[in-house]
Amino acid sequence: MTNKPQKPINLFDCNTSQKVIGREKFMAALENILNHGAYCQGPETHELEAKLAAYSGVKHCVTCGSGTDALILPLMAWDVKPGDAVFVSSFTFVASCEAPVLLGATPIFVDSRPDTFNMNPDDLRKAIEEVKKEGKLNLKAVIAVDIFGSPAELDEIIKIAHENGMKVLSDSAQSYGSTYKGKKAGSIADMTATSFYPTKPLAGYGDGGATFTNSEEEFERLNSHRVHGMSLTDRYDNIRFGLNARMDSFQGAVLLQKLTVFDQELVARENIAKRYDTKLSPYFGKQRVLDGCRSARAIYTITCEHRDELMSYLKEAGIPCGVYYPRPVHTQTAYAKWNTRSLPVCEKLAKTVLSLPMHPYLEEDAQDYVIETMNIFAAKHGSQAA
Ligand SMILES: Cc1ncc(COP(=O)(O)O)c(C=O)c1O
Repeated sequence: MTNKPQKPINLFDCNTSQKVIGREKFMAALENILNHGAYCQGPETHELEAKLAAYSGVKHCVTCGSGTDALILPLMAWDVKPGDAVFVSSFTFVASCEAPVLLGATPIFVDSRPDTFNMNPDDLRKAIEEVKKEGKLNLKAVIAVDIFGSPAELDEIIKIAHENGMKVLSDSAQSYGSTYKGKKAGSIADMTATSFYPTKPLAGYGDGGATFTNSEEEFERLNSHRVHGMSLTDRYDNIRFGLNARMDSFQGAVLLQKLTVFDQELVARENIAKRYDTKLSPYFGKQRVLDGCRSARAIYTITCEHRDELMSYLKEAGIPCGVYYPRPVHTQTAYAKWNTRSLPVCEKLAKTVLSLPMHPYLEEDAQDYVIETMNIFAAKHGSQAA
C-alpha cells in the first residue's frame, strides 16, 4: 500500500500553473495593462479571441464575462423568448438551464445516458414529440452539455435538432480542449459556449467565458448583445437589448499565458484519467467517453451505490472528493415548475456520482494513494460494477 503522500491532495489545483508558467509573466501583463489603461475588453482580449478561434478551428470567438454569459449571448442572438422550448440536460450545472429561463423560454429537461452521463438522444426525440403533441411551445434550441469534459453525442443531437428546425448550442464549459471525431470543441455545433472559471481545463484567475461561431451574422449579434445591444456603428444607439458581458483585459492576459501550457495540461489530465480508468476496481462505474473522442477531463467522476459511505471513508483517508451534482436541475426549487418529465437516469446519477482529485499537477504518489484507497473500499463491498 502506498503511504499517504506528505503533501495535501487537492481536488482541483488553480495555482501551480503560476509557477510552471512563471509568476513574473502575469505581473508583466498586469503592468502592461496598467500602462495602456484599456481595462475592459482591451488588446489582450482581442488577441485571445484570435488565438482561441484558431485553436478551435472556427471563424469567430467572442470573449465575455463568464461561461453563463457565454450561454445567454447566443440564445439572445437567436431571439430566444417566451413561448420557446429549449431542450437541455438536467444533469448539469444550473447555468445550462438558467440561460433559457432568463430569456423567458421554457426549459424541457432531457434525461442522460447512464454510461456517458450526457444527454440521451432517444429521450431528446421523445421530449420533442411530447412538446409537438402538446402544441403550445415553439421548438427553438437544444443545449447539449459536455459533462465533466466529455463530448455529448453531438452528431445525433444536431441531426435531431436540425430536422426539427432547431439550433444547437454546445455547452462546452467543462470541455474546452476536448475533441469530437477529430474536431475541437467550439467548432461542432451551431454555436459553442465555454467557461474559464478557475477550475475549468482552460482556467483564468477569475470569471471569464467565450462563445464560438462560424456565422458572420451571429458574430455581429454576439458582439452587440455583449455590450448592451449597441449598434456596432453607433455605440450610443442601442438597437436591441443586451448585457454588460465584457471580459476584463487582465483575464485575457492570464488566459493568453495559460494557453501556452494548455495542451500539456490536457495530456497530463488524460494520463491521470487513463490510470484511474484502468486501475480503479470495476466495482466503480466509470464515465464512458465516446469512441473517436477525447475528453478534456475537467472532472473525474465515478459512480458507486454506497456513495455517501465512500465519501466519509475518503475524507477520513485525507482524500478530497466532490458530488457534481447532488440534485439534477429539474428537482431544484426554482425549476420545480418545469419538472414535468420522468428523468430516472439523472436522478440515479445524482445519488451515485462522486468526483475524485483531478488536475494536471496531481502527482503519481497521490494518484496511487487515491486508487489503492478506493480499491480497499471496493474489496470490502464486493466487486460488482455500480
Ligand atoms: C456545464 C456548465 N455550464 C455553464 C457553466 C457556467 O460557467 P461560469 O461559472 O463561468 O458562469 C458551468 C460552470 O461551472 C458549467 O459547469
